[in-house]
Amino acid sequence: MSITPVRELHDLSLSKESKTIKYNLVQVKGTWTRKKRKTQRQTKNERVSTAEIHECSRERGTTWTVVSPIVFTYQVMQIQKLLDPSNDALLTGHIRDPRQLELLRCNPRPIKRFVVMDETVFKLYGCQVTDYFENRGVLYRILPLATTEENKSMEKVMTILGEVHKFGIDRRTEPIIAIGGGVCLDIVGLAASLYRRRTPYIRVPTTLLSYIDASVGAKAGVNFANCKNKLGTYIPPVAALLDRSFIQTLPRRHISNGLAEMLKMALMKHRGLFELLEQHGQYLLDSKFQSNGVDLTPVAAVATKAAIESMLEELAPNLWEDSLDRLVDFGHLISPELEMKVLPVLLHGEAVNIDMAFMVYVARERGLLSEGEKLRIVRCMLALELPVWHGDCTLALVQRALADRLKHSGGLVRMPLPTGLGCAEIFNDTDDGTLCQAYEKWCNELGPEPSLSILMSSGHV
Ligand SMILES: NC(=O)c1ccc[n+]([C@@H]2O[C@H](COP(=O)([O-])OP(=O)(O)OC[C@H]3O[C@@H](n4cnc5c(N)ncnc54)[C@H](O)[C@@H]3O)[C@@H](O)[C@H]2O)c1
Ligand SMILES: [Zn+2]
Repeated sequence: MSITPVRELHDLSLSKESKTIKYNLVQVKGTWTRKKRKTQRQTKNERVSTAEIHECSRERGTTWTVVSPIVFTYQVMQIQKLLDPSNDALLTGHIRDPRQLELLRCNPRPIKRFVVMDETVFKLYGCQVTDYFENRGVLYRILPLATTEENKSMEKVMTILGEVHKFGIDRRTEPIIAIGGGVCLDIVGLAASLYRRRTPYIRVPTTLLSYIDASVGAKAGVNFANCKNKLGTYIPPVAALLDRSFIQTLPRRHISNGLAEMLKMALMKHRGLFELLEQHGQYLLDSKFQSNGVDLTPVAAVATKAAIESMLEELAPNLWEDSLDRLVDFGHLISPELEMKVLPVLLHGEAVNIDMAFMVYVARERGLLSEGEKLRIVRCMLALELPVWHGDCTLALVQRALADRLKHSGGLVRMPLPTGLGCAEIFNDTDDGTLCQAYEKWCNELGPEPSLSILMSSGHV
């Protein structure tokens, strides 16, 4: 008897043609079975899944490829008087199915909610939140938590998880509620995503930055190994409930901070929003985004709506950031490194603005922006009371951050740059010479001894 050498057997199996069969999944009376895609015809009592199994048989064995589209549906809702006990939104705003709402109404058991609040927000709004739940007969536990960028960590996530576990919630019907700024929403979002693999959560943003940015997308996370948001998930909340009235107690510096993210969207894709910020930026800062009833143009409402819509347009088709070409990354190439380096000196939006200001100089150096456009952007930033330069943002830091970006973005730097006011493109070919020249001009014009022309014409001297 002759024995075929192993190597030959291997070659034989490779040379055999493989065959792939694509199956749909069909459920009848609770049991899922595969049906060949071509022959599959739906009958009355069947439920067909959007998932598929592709079976590829070779002599060596079978490979099953599971294609399982996962759909996330969540609501971003602008709401007035969220904490008014007559307003249902905080308790049921996330429920879209009328049958589920009816079931909840008929259920004699009290509604149960676990709430995490930023400590400062608790001091300001804790009584109102308590009154709300008392009035509505809810079984609740409020956990006030000091949530700062310095302690945005896994330890805080574990603290929340310990308390959630002690309190006990139904993982399907009792969403965790987070009320606070972006730090609080990010920490709670991660805790909820981990608890029992995915517990629904609701975001109630109380800062401008979280109102227009941190609460509308899917990301949650904490800092790790001195790197920003290194641990996290892409699980969106079931609802983000946006009430602008929280912003009235926010310190002015934090309103500027949020305006930076708004300006980002304006520069990337919304000229109208840029012009609105240019003309009414100071008014928005002074009025703290509140309507005084006599507004001829409801600037705050128009600005927040435009910012949220343009943000959602970019996020919804790319919820898990599979595409690395993202306009929303503008201002976020260098800023994470700068923000962590000088922590807690710069707020997130301030670091973002410094990054954007430098990138405006890069765009100018590349001939993408005219001198006039560059000046309008810098003046607008200054009018929004945002920093446009920082001594710790050295050329070495810029180069290091971009090299790091190259490493983590599939070998391309994917640099969003404005190509006018309210339009932008992603570039991969900014050479080091351009970067150095832009850096020098940026320092000369906006650095510790800024050239007077820009600042004088913006009323900052
Ligand atoms: N998940 C995302 O997609 C996303 C997007 C952007 C930013 N972020 C994250 O958001 C964080 C920044 O968020 P932030 O700027 O809201 O900071 P923050 O959460 O630290 O809040 C800022 C400060 O304002 C206080 N505060 C909050 N609401 C208040 C109110 N109504 N009145 C008075 N004081 C109030 C807080 O106690 C805090 O001191 C960063 O960690 C950033 O990484 C996340
Ligand atoms: Zn940001």
